[in-house]
Amino acid sequence: MVIPENSSIVIFGASGDLTYRKLIPALYHLYASNQLPKSFAILGVSRTEYSDQSYRDKLKQSLLEMEQTEPEALDSFIQHLHYQAINTSDVQDYARLATRLDQLSDQYQFETRNTLFYLATPPSLYSVIPESLAAHGLNDESNGWKRLIVEKPFGYDLESAKELDESIHTHFQEHQIYRIDHYLGKETVQNLLVFRFSNAMFEPLWNRNYIEYIEITGAEHLGVEERGGYYDGSGAVRDMFQNHLLQVLAMVGMEPPAQINADSMRDEVAKVLQCLKPLDEHDLRNNLVLGQYTGSDVRGEFLQGYREEPGVAEDSRTETYVGLKAYINNWRWNGVPFYVRTGKRLPTRVTEVVIHFKRTPHPVFGLDAPENKLIIRIQPDEGIQMSFGLKEPGAGFKAKEVKMNFHYASLEETQMLTAYERLLHDALNGDATLFARTDAVEACWQYVQPILDFKQDPQALFGYACGTWGPKESDQLLERDGRAWRFPCKNLTDTDYCEL
Ligand code: BG6
Repeated sequence: MVIPENSSIVIFGASGDLTYRKLIPALYHLYASNQLPKSFAILGVSRTEYSDQSYRDKLKQSLLEMEQTEPEALDSFIQHLHYQAINTSDVQDYARLATRLDQLSDQYQFETRNTLFYLATPPSLYSVIPESLAAHGLNDESNGWKRLIVEKPFGYDLESAKELDESIHTHFQEHQIYRIDHYLGKETVQNLLVFRFSNAMFEPLWNRNYIEYIEITGAEHLGVEERGGYYDGSGAVRDMFQNHLLQVLAMVGMEPPAQINADSMRDEVAKVLQCLKPLDEHDLRNNLVLGQYTGSDVRGEFLQGYREEPGVAEDSRTETYVGLKAYINNWRWNGVPFYVRTGKRLPTRVTEVVIHFKRTPHPVFGLDAPENKLIIRIQPDEGIQMSFGLKEPGAGFKAKEVKMNFHYASLEETQMLTAYERLLHDALNGDATLFARTDAVEACWQYVQPILDFKQDPQALFGYACGTWGPKESDQLLERDGRAWRFPCKNLTDTDYCEL
């Protein structure tokens, strides 16, 4: 494990939810496992007034409530936290931030002024902050690196994503920009690459000659919770599909990178995303299903409909479900459907990829011989399941489906970093391999833009009851092709208990 160079970590949006729930816990765990720099300062920045001490108290309390902590490590970690209130919309006010960074640099005796800026703010500040940092020379790398982590959503549509990119590039160079997609930080998503390219028994089959179709599911049981205000302006296409699910699709579909480094990896990711078959009018009407959840009793509890959620408009037409049949127009994948779905208030939380292989050309052991299937479970119960046919014991030669499973939990060495731990650590080390590059982000927006335009169509939205697997139209998407979605449980292997 490479220990990052001494540095300051500046978190904009320091009093926000992401900072409390993800960033500070990730930094604490990195600290407790000796993976942060020898000397480092964390500076929280936002408009709210806190002293260093009151900010420390607040974060300590939330760490104690949310995480398993070790008292000594927690106390010494907390001492690295500092706070600076500024008006983040006012360029002039960043002078106070510059001064504070000078002071911290003296206090911690940094030899160079390495600084990681994390933008955990509302997107409206994504261009303002880089511009204001630059106005005070805080983008200047002559005495230490300056890096910028930008949270999603990176843009609102193709046009605004391009504008944002241009605006950030005016002040920061591409090598300084880290667009975070936390799905790329997940161990099991990275494993897609290792699994594919380190096993001679799978890679030769990984193409249109042997694969019939692929399912990618990103299901959530939770609704929009407290985030109705944000979500209503976003929807499932922007919130999950444009970024997380297309990144997973890229990992499943990409060619092997020449090397494992940021350039080679991201060249291949961008290439495969650029090969997505553009969605035309026919696709939008026939191969896309948008849905919105409606109130229903689920396992004895009434769950309210999306329109009743706080912060959501009463007549909202925002989609909380998207199902799509996508194609990748390249040599490897031409003609293989990728059925991709994501939604809130589905029966359970599960993200997985299912590879369905073609049946054998000579069905000598029965026409209904089991299909060969590989389930790559991204979360929860992370693991892999392979299904294949075996002779049913007894008379005759009938094939029967059997399964082989691997569960990450069974590894002795299971100290997996969470997505934010991995990505923060990589950014501190200057490794952008798992961050989205500008061309990939643009390719994703390019692909979803027709969906965003189509969303306006009044016929584009179907209802589904909370706790079901989305609108029935989504089932028809596969039924028309003589197929069906897999209905996964929270456990990878089938068990008696299933959420449905
Ligand atoms: C976030 C979305 O990016 O990802 C949320 O904004 C969603 O709406 C979350 O719930 C899902 O992430 P995970 O890691 O829980 O699958």
